[in-house]
Amino acid sequence: MVNPAQEEFDYPSLKVLTINNHKGGVGKTSLSKIITEYFLNKGKRVLGVDIDPQCNFSARFVEMRDDGSPPIHPEFNADDPDWDELPYPPPGYWSISELFKIGYVEPYSTQYQNLKFIPSHKTELQEFLDQVEKINREEDIVNLMRTIFLDEYYQDEIDVVVIDTPPQASSLTASAVRAATHLLIPTEMQEDSVSGMADMAQLWETENRSRIGDRLNLVGVLPTKYDKSSAAQRNTYDDLNAEGSYFSDKLITPPMRYLQTYANSSSTYANPQSLFEMHDKTPAKIEAEQFCDVIYKRVFSDER
Ligand SMILES: Nc1ncnc2c1ncn2[C@@H]1O[C@H](COP(=O)(O)OP(=O)(O)O)[C@@H](O)[C@H]1O
Ligand SMILES: [Mg+2]
Repeated sequence: MVNPAQEEFDYPSLKVLTINNHKGGVGKTSLSKIITEYFLNKGKRVLGVDIDPQCNFSARFVEMRDDGSPPIHPEFNADDPDWDELPYPPPGYWSISELFKIGYVEPYSTQYQNLKFIPSHKTELQEFLDQVEKINREEDIVNLMRTIFLDEYYQDEIDVVVIDTPPQASSLTASAVRAATHLLIPTEMQEDSVSGMADMAQLWETENRSRIGDRLNLVGVLPTKYDKSSAAQRNTYDDLNAEGSYFSDKLITPPMRYLQTYANSSSTYANPQSLFEMHDKTPAKIEAEQFCDVIYKRVFSDER
């Protein structure tokens, strides 16, 4: 029997890729940028969403101010009654905090024609994160992003949303998971990182138990900062890949190796800004094209 409320919750065609691991420093933000660039190069209309108060994903595509707040929105007009409807004086910018606070946000245009962006806000989002457990709106917040993306604007104007998440688990991250059609889990091949993978497996399964029609697809687990010359990392990789291991058929190859090029290209001053504008023989570019292609195919294949 079809539950109408549940069916209504399905996106007809929009893809939402959430990149998450409760651990920090595993390459979530670097991958968010690379995957966004890859999808753009494939001609997709992308919406980048940053829910990390660190704002590093935002800073790649939006000219953030020094205090970690977004710039004035180009369409901002203090006399526009829509801006007056905000429950506080219009600050002239939109960030992901407005989405969580008032359930509406106006995405930014970027230097890429097919890329819209909802930036984070360093102080406001951090404040919100600190309060969120106390305000008794958790259930609300967990379902919020999903409800927003059901809006006609996102369904019609966007092909894929890429969401970068902060390191710790919170109801904001839960919201990004609830909104997702696809989940990508990057992980280092250190022993302690892999032990945290049990939590990620549980998150995926728990989310799917709460859904009826629209499963959360696990795009895969991408080994990151992989150093083949380390025996410990090779062992960890082999364990994860071993037949019968929970994620064995979910490992994405090639892994993202530990390469200085990735670290360099994450700088705001990197030139070129995109890895994909580098020389064709750049090793990081070659492997990134390969793992992005696996991700691309899994996100845009029709199996759900
Ligand atoms: N494959 C890689 N090789 C080398 N350095 C990397 C790689 N991926 C990410 N880094 C660097 O590691 C740091 C953490 O990466 P980041 O993407 O910010 O992780 P997260 O978002 O999970 O915290 C950054 O300084 C980034 O430049
Ligand atoms: Mg990050």
